[in-house]
Amino acid sequence: MAQPIVKLNHVSKSYGDSTVLKDINLELEAGKFYTLLGPSGSGKTTILQTISGFTSVDAGDVYFDGQRINELPPNRRKVNTVFQDYALFPNMNVFDNVAFGLTLQNVKKAEITRRVTSALKSVHLNGYGNREISELSGGQKQRVAIARAIIMEPKMLLLDEPLSALDAKLRRDMQYELRELQQRLGITFLFITHDQEEALAMSDEIFVMNDGVILQSGTPVDIYDEPINHFVANFIGESNILNGVMREDYVVEFVGKRFECEDAGMRPNEPVEVVMRPEDLTITTVENGKLVVTIDTQLFRGDYYEIAATDDDGNEWLIHSTNSVPDNSRVGVTFAPNDIHVMRFNESEEDFDARLETYETDD
Ligand SMILES: Nc1ncnc2c1ncn2[C@@H]1O[C@H](COP(=O)(O)OP(=O)(O)OP(=O)(O)O)[C@@H](O)[C@H]1O
Ligand SMILES: [Mg+2]
Repeated sequence: MAQPIVKLNHVSKSYGDSTVLKDINLELEAGKFYTLLGPSGSGKTTILQTISGFTSVDAGDVYFDGQRINELPPNRRKVNTVFQDYALFPNMNVFDNVAFGLTLQNVKKAEITRRVTSALKSVHLNGYGNREISELSGGQKQRVAIARAIIMEPKMLLLDEPLSALDAKLRRDMQYELRELQQRLGITFLFITHDQEEALAMSDEIFVMNDGVILQSGTPVDIYDEPINHFVANFIGESNILNGVMREDYVVEFVGKRFECEDAGMRPNEPVEVVMRPEDLTITTVENGKLVVTIDTQLFRGDYYEIAATDDDGNEWLIHSTNSVPDNSRVGVTFAPNDIHVMRFNESEEDFDARLETYETDD
């Protein structure tokens, strides 16, 4: 990587007895879209605050453009934040909120008008300049907050759940808008969400957090296809997770049978967990099935049926199918070796990456 725009080096932070960031290391490359994904309380906002300067760190170093900025006050950092609670000025109208940063910089009035108009347009709020903040819906306030941040054209934008108050349709539109905006402006985005689909759709790279720790970082495809552990597999997408045993390289046993897989580098007979995505399972005849299951229920999800089934050992399975299958019918389930993903218990991200590098097969 070229010099990262942001680097957190062994950063820790505690409030009283509780350590909310535990030895965080991360590097962000300029011009990319990064997402912090994790459940409530996992430390996402706190990471953003260490970069914006609204929180000091107890240990470790924060670098911006190669410069250590631990002691630099927030107003001297080249980042802008869209806050989780918007933090708009209630006594100013929409125009003045968005224009605020530019007025401080003594930008000419005509240029301010031009840039505010353009920023409001990019968040679909044309014509809202004269509205009072109290006259806006939650989603509109959120979009004013985005406009106020992008108008400054910062080197980096920190976005703390900027889309959480929007309805589904507008949220999807804004996902496109934000992604397009990031690419057009070429600035680095660090975006927070606890919506995994949003993270997968928008990011160049995702950091999955839990309990003050970054569990895994990687592209959406890497994290989806090769989750490092049970938590990540469960948090990103629907999964079937089963206990298994790695009999030897490329052979894993679960539900009492041995299957060819693409994983290797574990100890012989090491207990493992096996992840299979519902969309990778295919329903077939009982004779052709690698497994046989009984259909319990199904939900129509628009573009597929989500089918719940149980195998003869009592394991529950989730299967996505474009065809409906009658309840209580017995069917076969089939899958390919690369649909099986094996996870070790307590493997560090470093060991996981090294093992994948050694054994990965191209498919
Ligand atoms: N100023 C503070 N004083 C004490 N504890 C705090 C403070 N700020 C955050 N915390 C605690 O730190 C932990 C991480 O908080 P943080 O706001 O980073 O979580 P988050 O991942 O952003 O969660 P959410 O998705 O709910 O916004 C939480 O347990 C929170 O209660
Ligand atoms: Mg938060």
